[in-house]
Amino acid sequence: MSNIGSFDERIKNFNWDIAEKELDFVPGNIINIGWYCSDRICRMGKAEKPALIWEGSTGIEKRYTYNDLRLNSNTIGHFLRELGIRPEDRVCLFMDKIPELYIGFLGILKMGGIAQPLFSAFGDESLFVRLDNAQTTAIITQKKHAPKVRKIMDKMPYLKHMIIVDADPGKPLGDREVAFDMEKAEKIDQFDIHPTYAESASVLHYTSGTTGQPKGVKHVHYSLISQYLTSKWVLDLQDSDIYWCTADPGWVTGTSYGIIGAFSNGVTQCVLDAGFSADNWYRFIEKHKITMWYSAPTAIRSLMKAGEDVIKKYDLSTLRHLASVGEPLNSEAVIWSEKVFGKPFLDTYWQTETGSIMITNFPGMKIKPGSMGKPFPGITATVIDAETFEPFGETGKIGLIAIKPGWPSMMRTYWNNESTYKNKFKNGWYLPGDRSSIDNEGYFWFVGRDDDVINTGGHLVSPFEVESALLEHPAVAESAVVAKPDFVNMEVVKAFVTLKPGFTASKDLDLDIMNFVRKKLSPLAMPQEIEFIDSLPKTRSGKIMRRILHAKEWGEAIGDTSTLENDD
Ligand code: WTA
Repeated sequence: MSNIGSFDERIKNFNWDIAEKELDFVPGNIINIGWYCSDRICRMGKAEKPALIWEGSTGIEKRYTYNDLRLNSNTIGHFLRELGIRPEDRVCLFMDKIPELYIGFLGILKMGGIAQPLFSAFGDESLFVRLDNAQTTAIITQKKHAPKVRKIMDKMPYLKHMIIVDADPGKPLGDREVAFDMEKAEKIDQFDIHPTYAESASVLHYTSGTTGQPKGVKHVHYSLISQYLTSKWVLDLQDSDIYWCTADPGWVTGTSYGIIGAFSNGVTQCVLDAGFSADNWYRFIEKHKITMWYSAPTAIRSLMKAGEDVIKKYDLSTLRHLASVGEPLNSEAVIWSEKVFGKPFLDTYWQTETGSIMITNFPGMKIKPGSMGKPFPGITATVIDAETFEPFGETGKIGLIAIKPGWPSMMRTYWNNESTYKNKFKNGWYLPGDRSSIDNEGYFWFVGRDDDVINTGGHLVSPFEVESALLEHPAVAESAVVAKPDFVNMEVVKAFVTLKPGFTASKDLDLDIMNFVRKKLSPLAMPQEIEFIDSLPKTRSGKIMRRILHAKEWGEAIGDTSTLENDD
């Protein structure tokens, strides 16, 4: 029996206080996600239950019970407090998917800090703009990533501490650097958790937009209500589950469902801190007897590509429920998963700003492969006309996805950017920036984004950030960055570049530019293809028309070019 039971009944009687009651949360009282994810589960009699089973790339394994989670997060919280970090200070987590990342996240929340997770593959430039925007007080990292921080340390007087979790004993550290070894630190059993309330800031996640710098999405402790309930009803987390969320906590899925949703529901979750390979993933499922698997379309398409023979080598019979997020899940992938795993991946739609699943397929619901499903109970969503902002409803017409504000895990603002936040609302609706249609049975069918942001393998990349990085390369005069179709990643980054006088296009220059962007930003933002051209299509007012380049890549009609400068 699934947790959600009858979807229709749930919708009829829905009120968010269902989750409040289950969590014994009384509005107006203290609510701290760190406490809910560790201390509370211990109090419920599950102190010795495995909370986190971690496997590193070399095969080494570490296990933590809920009591270990409680003690270690207390210890980290205590350490941060002793360092002088205060409630509401931003503390960045800049690590691979190691236990310190998961437990450190809870520790920051327990001492009242705001956790700012950043993807560990970010280069110094990507890191700098996000730390600078947040005026981050401390960063917790590994020695392998410390050089990227050191490179920008001088530009960040507000960054008081770099905490290294695996520093070599005895090796001197630089100014503002401090070592912290979670395993060896004296465990703090009694810790005064900072009294945070529903609206106290909890997490700051950075997400990319088309223009301008990345935006810091501010979440609050009350988000737990949505994250707990969607984990319970959509991911169907049950006491006996062994759960695997493949997302990295540098991105929102890895925190909302890879930390908060999982631990607040008291399940055992597994983490694999290793690169992708079909063999390794199936081995991991077999070894840990994974029952619930939350992943992304890119991974599923990679598994499809790897074929079915590899599946036969492993016993995957423990899998009982599968879900996906991050990009459109094509109907082929759903049908394939039904065929090879005996159950479909259920598509779930949401974004960093929404904090939790908005539109989704539920256990027990009729699945229409290729559709994102229906709004979660308590979520009012529709599609609206892009000009009048009037709802189209279930007409099959394509419009902007629009959600009525007011669910618990909605972002509260963009950090230091209230005007961009306000612009996300029109006519009383929150607009995530995506297009969809709704069929006559209320199912949403995703069409595409409403901006130029590139979704590569479920990761959003801003063309603006890549173009800005490209312009810093000595050979680049101008650039325009668009998405290019790709079977596995759906979209990859493609750059059109014009060169400065004295430079000529060559394979070496191509590679040099790619590496330049990879180091500055990240491997995700690195263009997979660079096309050198003589001039970029521009409007008469000089704006680069990415739309034309995009249409060319996707084999689409170019549309209205009446404002095009190069047409003259
Ligand atoms: C896209 C990730 C189609 C969408 C949780 C959204 C999807 C953006 C789906 C958010 C889906 C997410 N089908 N597209 N099921 N889920 N997206 O902020 O464009 O990294 O706005 O959050 O990914 O990406 P973000």
